[in-house]
Amino acid sequence: MKIPYGKHNITEDDLEAVKKALLSDFITQGPNGEEFEKVFAEYVGAKYAISLSNGTAALDLCVKVLDPSPGDKYITTPITFVASANCAKFNDGEVHFSDIDRKTYLLDLNRLEDLLKKEDIGSYKAVIPVDFAGFPVNMQDLNTLAEKYKFHVIEDACHAPGGEFLDSVNKWQRCGNGVYADLTVFSFHPVKHLATGEGGMITTNDKDLYDRIRRLRSHGITKDSKYLTENHGDWYYEMHELSHNYRLTDFQAALGISQLKRADEGLRRRTEIAAKYISELGHIDDITFPLLPSNIKHAYHLFIIEVPNRKEFYDYLKLQGIFAQIHYIPVHLQPYYRQFGTKKGDFPEAEDYYEHCISLPMYPSLSEDEQNYVIEKIKKYFIEE
Ligand SMILES: Cc1ncc(COP(=O)(O)O)c(C=O)c1O
Repeated sequence: MKIPYGKHNITEDDLEAVKKALLSDFITQGPNGEEFEKVFAEYVGAKYAISLSNGTAALDLCVKVLDPSPGDKYITTPITFVASANCAKFNDGEVHFSDIDRKTYLLDLNRLEDLLKKEDIGSYKAVIPVDFAGFPVNMQDLNTLAEKYKFHVIEDACHAPGGEFLDSVNKWQRCGNGVYADLTVFSFHPVKHLATGEGGMITTNDKDLYDRIRRLRSHGITKDSKYLTENHGDWYYEMHELSHNYRLTDFQAALGISQLKRADEGLRRRTEIAAKYISELGHIDDITFPLLPSNIKHAYHLFIIEVPNRKEFYDYLKLQGIFAQIHYIPVHLQPYYRQFGTKKGDFPEAEDYYEHCISLPMYPSLSEDEQNYVIEKIKKYFIEE
């Protein structure tokens, strides 16, 4: 038996959708791209969505669209994938980290405010919170800080399509709905909730940001008459700023549309898997489970537990054919980031978390038998050995 920590799921319907797109006249930009954006915006409750080649490209454009200057400062969490920080470096910014809340593993907003207080108001261009593992950041609280300290919010919700938090008037706010974040980023990498091979999306409620990101996605080029300085005919386009080709192909968008139809079902299954881990393993003293407050709906991209002897436990699972994973090595300790001055000891909560965390298999197609096997092996490790 070989059980990975995450896995994509491709059905006959997905195959049909991709085949139809591939046999159509448009395989790069076509009707599926627009349709995917429409249905994804509806799913998260945002006004606008822009599909992109991957989540990293999406993060890059979120920073680019804010007109960054070299040396601008950004804050993110050390417990994330490197891309959440790299988007600032792509745009010649300075990355600052703020430590996590040891219970939620998310940016600790009190610590964040302590950091913000040390500088003049407006010193930070943007904060990039991460809905890590699928646990939604309270964007309303972050937005209060954003208004007070004058920074933009780029929510990295790559782990959290379908995640929600309860706001102060008891209303569920879905990740990416644009109510409290300027821009939200999603990834459709195969281990994520939706898989398009590579793929990403930005959602926003701001029409100007939306229009400009659409141009930035395609070389900074526009054909829209309202932006043209001249018009020579139907073929005419203008390039107004330097950018990349960050487009998603139309057949990937077709796959995204097909996958999105199963998003609710996938989330239900992820929640069921999490509940079973907790009920079956909850009595084991050596395991610390993720905090589950009643004011969030967790999207369970990952199911992370903490254990005392993580390396030994990881190696043991591997021997049983269970390929757990570690999310993440703190970004400030990556050699690339150390060159800017960060070092061991800077963010003790993140570093302590890293010593203990391990992500167990979590994906909708994980069968009952497979999960039972994982549970049995974990019980064996902690109870019998
Ligand atoms: C939190 C987070 N941000 C950004 C990304 C980047 O997304 P992509 O792999 O689609 O470029 C990932 C992907 O692994 C991620 O986990």
